[in-house]
Amino acid sequence: MMWKYIPKSCIHVSAVSLKKTAADKRWLVRQLSDPYVKAAHFQNYRCRSAFKLIEMDDKYTILKPGFTVVDCGAAPGAWSQVAVQRVNSSGESTELPKGLVIGIDLLRIAPLDGAHFLSCHDITDPSTHTELERLLPEARADVILSDMAPNASGLRELDHEKLVTMCLSMLDLAEKVLHPGGSLVCKYWDGALAHKLRQRLSLMFQDVRTVKPKASRKESAELFFLARMFKKR
Ligand SMILES: C[S@@+](CC[C@H](N)C(=O)[O-])C[C@H]1O[C@@H](n2cnc3c(N)ncnc32)[C@H](O)[C@@H]1O
Repeated sequence: MMWKYIPKSCIHVSAVSLKKTAADKRWLVRQLSDPYVKAAHFQNYRCRSAFKLIEMDDKYTILKPGFTVVDCGAAPGAWSQVAVQRVNSSGESTELPKGLVIGIDLLRIAPLDGAHFLSCHDITDPSTHTELERLLPEARADVILSDMAPNASGLRELDHEKLVTMCLSMLDLAEKVLHPGGSLVCKYWDGALAHKLRQRLSLMFQDVRTVKPKASRKESAELFFLARMFKKR
């Protein structure tokens, strides 16, 4: 199956064009030998990033049945798939409370049972915040996830700064909608401004830690902040 837009890291091998540059070939070799790519295929996840959230949730129990989750930068939808399973938002279990998953992305996201997607929405746009508040029960969420990433320019510092700016905007949203005691997971690329993000998170949450799941490639500058126990406004 082909999605309208697929980040390179999320493309399954079968979707790769046959006309390849040397860089494409290197990427393809890496994909073919990546156990998470294979596992994503066999477990029907939209991309390998699902395993980053699975790993973090298995360790820290961020997602519980009945929770309301906002997934920022949700396309193509693998984190939302994991969230749907773990908060029971498709109502698969009739014995557990039913949660809610709302995914937001600049790109179109293919429908997913149990998730409501705000495709073609920019998380940095205040009108997205307003629309989200309208959709959330009592305008509140238990968990905010962000695996957002800007289109990489290749200039490491510039990309780092762009992502930090997006994350800070996502934190404005978190301040408005998170329940006291709520949690947040936020992807960032390590760099000079990471401390700014951590400082802001430390003001908002009782517990902030940096996590690097095994499914996140060692050579990638990608790290995650896990922030728990949102303080009362
Ligand atoms: C690495 S992908 C997310 C993968 C997703 N977590 C999954 O598991 O399927 C990063 C996403 O962030 C989105 N993004 C980048 N800037 C954004 C913005 N300002 N608002 C919303 N989404 C954004 C991109 O369009 C892209 O789909």
